[in-house]
Amino acid sequence: MSDWFKTLNRKNTDSIKWRLAEEKCQGRECYTFSIADSDYQTAPVIKKALLDRVKHGAFGYAGRGEDYEDIIISWYKKRYDVNITKKSIIPVPTVLNALSVVIDKLSNINDDIIIQTPVYHVFKPVIEANQRHVLESPLGLEDLQYKMDFKHIEKLFKNGSKTFVLCNPHNPVGRVWTEKELKTLVDLAKKYQVLLISDEIHSDIIMPGYKFTSLGTYFHIYDKIIVISAPTKVFNIAGLQIAQIIVENESINEILKDEYMRLHLTTPNLLALTALKTAYKDGFKWLKAQNKHIQANYEYMKSYLHQYNNLFLVFPLEGTYLSWIKVNIKGLNAKDLVDELMKYGVFLSEGDKFGNGEDFVRASLACSKEQLITGLEKLTIYLRDKNII
Ligand SMILES: Cc1ncc(COP(=O)(O)O)c(C=O)c1O
Repeated sequence: MSDWFKTLNRKNTDSIKWRLAEEKCQGRECYTFSIADSDYQTAPVIKKALLDRVKHGAFGYAGRGEDYEDIIISWYKKRYDVNITKKSIIPVPTVLNALSVVIDKLSNINDDIIIQTPVYHVFKPVIEANQRHVLESPLGLEDLQYKMDFKHIEKLFKNGSKTFVLCNPHNPVGRVWTEKELKTLVDLAKKYQVLLISDEIHSDIIMPGYKFTSLGTYFHIYDKIIVISAPTKVFNIAGLQIAQIIVENESINEILKDEYMRLHLTTPNLLALTALKTAYKDGFKWLKAQNKHIQANYEYMKSYLHQYNNLFLVFPLEGTYLSWIKVNIKGLNAKDLVDELMKYGVFLSEGDKFGNGEDFVRASLACSKEQLITGLEKLTIYLRDKNII
């Protein structure tokens, strides 16, 4: 099991994450903790299922299979205690594709779309590419915990905004929204008839003591809820491209299904389907081990950075494998730190790009412990060279 999360060389494999890092570090040996893409192999059961499918050797047209919906239904029941129906599930290529299609079909040009910053930085370009306006509802911060600003949200709803994109759990701040928070949001949305779109791609990376609540929990009390999810982030199969929209509201469901029909995108590719089915049927043991591994990496990094007193403030990690870290180095802002560290062969994401996060950096912990240690040691060399410590 300890082998599952060992270092994997991803250079020269067309990995976007590692190609970007090479570019940024300009040819120096570089360790990247930037894009949310795991740096170890997927679950052995998934790898085996894919190898078996490849061995068969025929890759002709394939349907979704009779078990596709049942496997997803069972995962939602077992993992999140949410009952969903077969017809609520719409297979889609990726979460961002789904977000784009949902915005296109269910809002109007020039509409305001609310996001809670700091948030996954690609929401904004997807919204803007659809000629909608981004309306930020910044998260509030209380005692090291990010909170939804319900007063502000209600003000935006009152002013007529009709679409809200939730990130649940939240990338990059690592919050796993509680039932109470989500219920408050749903009640507000219902009062003002706002469409809630919940991106739940990080839903299975949850740290001990926290419980993920799918927004689908509230399908029965409010019908303008759309869940977009995928096994890709969690099981490290994002390059295969598969995701699902879940929406019980019949007219919304029909609009979206018609659109995917129009686009001739009704059946995911067969290797992606193989991976999804295996992940949801047989991937739980690996997933549990991964959550432990992420937690151990988080604890290691937190105590390592703790030795530098208050230079870095590591925020609590409730979910996702992304750590949100406040930088308190006199005379050096977080963005400059990211630039400087590239010269030392470490590549982090600057908080600024998520909106409302200019004092922060984000680090992916979905790597081997050795990779993390190397990154931290390089950080120490930098801090020493600059007489910061
Ligand atoms: C919150 C969130 N949504 C969506 C995505 C991208 O998903 P996909 O590759 O399925 O479009 C990411 C990737 O990091 C993410 O963090």
